[in-house]
Amino acid sequence: MPFVIKAYKFDEKINLNINKENYEKLIEENSNNEVRKNLLINNHNFISMIEEENMTSASSYYFAIIVKNKEALDKAKEDFERTCDAITPKLDIELVDNKKWLIKVFANLYYSNVNLDQIMYYDFVDLLSPLRISEMPSYLKVDNEEIQMVSIKNYPLFIEHGFLDRIINLPNVKASVTIKDTIEQSKLLNVLNASFKAVLADFNSSKNLSDVTEMQSLMNNYKLLIEQISANDEKVKEVSIILAISGTKKQREEILKEIKTNAELYQIKVDIPNLRQMAAWQGFELTDKGLPDYAMYLPTSTLASAFFFTENYHNDSAGWLIGEDSNYGLPTFFDQFALTKNRTGHNMSVIGTTGSGKSFLLKLLITNEFARGTKLFLFDIENELEKLTNRCGGEYIDLSSKGLINPLQIRYVSTDDDGETSILGKHLGFLENFFITAFEDISEKELVVLLDIVEKFYNSRGITKKTTLEEFESMSAKDYPIFSDLYAFLLEQQRNTKTKELERILVNIEVLLKRMVTGQDGNLYNGITTIDLSNNLVVFNLQELLFNSSRRLINTQMINLLTYLSNEIVDNKKKNDKKNKKQNMLIVVDEFHYFIDEDNPTLLKYFGQM
Ligand SMILES: Nc1ncnc2c1ncn2[C@@H]1O[C@H](COP(=O)(O)OP(=O)(O)OP(=O)(O)O)[C@@H](O)[C@H]1O
Ligand SMILES: [Mg+2]
Repeated sequence: MPFVIKAYKFDEKINLNINKENYEKLIEENSNNEVRKNLLINNHNFISMIEEENMTSASSYYFAIIVKNKEALDKAKEDFERTCDAITPKLDIELVDNKKWLIKVFANLYYSNVNLDQIMYYDFVDLLSPLRISEMPSYLKVDNEEIQMVSIKNYPLFIEHGFLDRIINLPNVKASVTIKDTIEQSKLLNVLNASFKAVLADFNSSKNLSDVTEMQSLMNNYKLLIEQISANDEKVKEVSIILAISGTKKQREEILKEIKTNAELYQIKVDIPNLRQMAAWQGFELTDKGLPDYAMYLPTSTLASAFFFTENYHNDSAGWLIGEDSNYGLPTFFDQFALTKNRTGHNMSVIGTTGSGKSFLLKLLITNEFARGTKLFLFDIENELEKLTNRCGGEYIDLSSKGLINPLQIRYVSTDDDGETSILGKHLGFLENFFITAFEDISEKELVVLLDIVEKFYNSRGITKKTTLEEFESMSAKDYPIFSDLYAFLLEQQRNTKTKELERILVNIEVLLKRMVTGQDGNLYNGITTIDLSNNLVVFNLQELLFNSSRRLINTQMINLLTYLSNEIVDNKKKNDKKNKKQNMLIVVDEFHYFIDEDNPTLLKYFGQM
């Protein structure tokens, strides 16, 4: 079924009101936190500044399907949607299906200055009827604006992808592409044959070498196209491309000059339809007209390469200003916690070459997330976050000397593979990994016996597989035993051993466990948990640990930290849920490669589970 498709490129002012309102709300909520408040005010002012400097105009693209009646429209719409769906990657289209949006499109098309909020109370006709268009030889007056109509006149048969984007994507330029089903194949072949013959005649009479080469390539293109059309491999459409440039005479001239320069790069000729400005306008408008003298027969492959909607402007209204869009220089707001159809997870990795700005971006992320109230845990590997932490009133913890996390403190986090396992059972699972990593040379038998002893040890302290979540929740750090308690319990077990074999195993275990109460391991593990994670910005300084410890110690301490952190995060979420409060939480790790140990992927597994 034949139908006309029009494609439009408009410039729209992007609306940052919601972003600003979001900041205003946050500023009010944080009125008693100086650091946060100032950061938020800065960001808010920055938005005002880019608005004042007019850095907030974005291109948007619309398609209009034009047919004779409603029935045909429904059918065409369906075809169009199905086609967009079949393209890989899937072309996500949205139907312009509410009045406000429709009016926005029309107001843009007709250069109307009617305020969007007022518009809601008008009918369509009221909106569009005040328009007055008068025709001058080379431009139009549309109400109070001067509009210059320009068209593309000459266009190579085959062309580089996305070229049109580079020609029309300028401020004050609107573009309309009218695509019609073309004349029948036989007639078309006649037209192409005639064009081919005309070039051939020129070619035969031409003496200029550069002309000859150009004509040769043109003839080859015609030949190729005629072959493809005859073989039914290629469809041809009738296409006219019309641009509407607004602004003062001087502005228009400048824009036109730039358009022409860009067009020349692709051997495209741009032309002002003099004395035919009104005809051009009618071809630009939402009608099935094109601009007949300027229509071109384009193979669909060439037509496809014209299309421009390769970029999608990104604005998360509750997000923070992450930077600018590299194509159009538009401010880009990013909210890691926003989920959409295409963004189904919060996790993010930042990848880039040395010096490309990864750490810088992470600091920007940290500062902005802190300002909006996210609870942050940072792993500081290169000893560079202390100042930032202090400025924000955060907690800076050195995990190699002062801060201690007791591995024997039960983590009661629920995991996905919940099933029937008790909380103590799960904690013993963690300890198994902990011991394997800490005691690299522990044998299978020794491990089994050790875990058995640990369970008995917990039982002797009133902690059993029956201890409930509520009971654990009411316990605090000082209620848990430490490694010297476990070591003493082990010695007691040794005294009561009956068999020689078990005695030998217990001696081995004693040697291993002794490590946990003396030396560097003892410093890290033998004691009640002292670190306090209640601050909204907690930073672990890991430099000492990473650069002055063995791989074994790094891995064990990191497993210890990650499991403890998981527990705190879940716990914090539960507490917030009870208060009906929502708080985002984020763990940020720069220089992550330090945690990748090919010989021991356990640590990565724990990172993955966070
Ligand atoms: N958006 C930016 N604006 C201005 N300067 C920046 C920006 N991003 C990074 N820089 C600067 O570029 C330099 C390198 O950045 P950064 O240290 O963040 O890179 P990196 O990717 O972390 O490098 P490495 O791989 O060495 O860790 C720094 O001096 C930083 O201040
Ligand atoms: Mg870096």
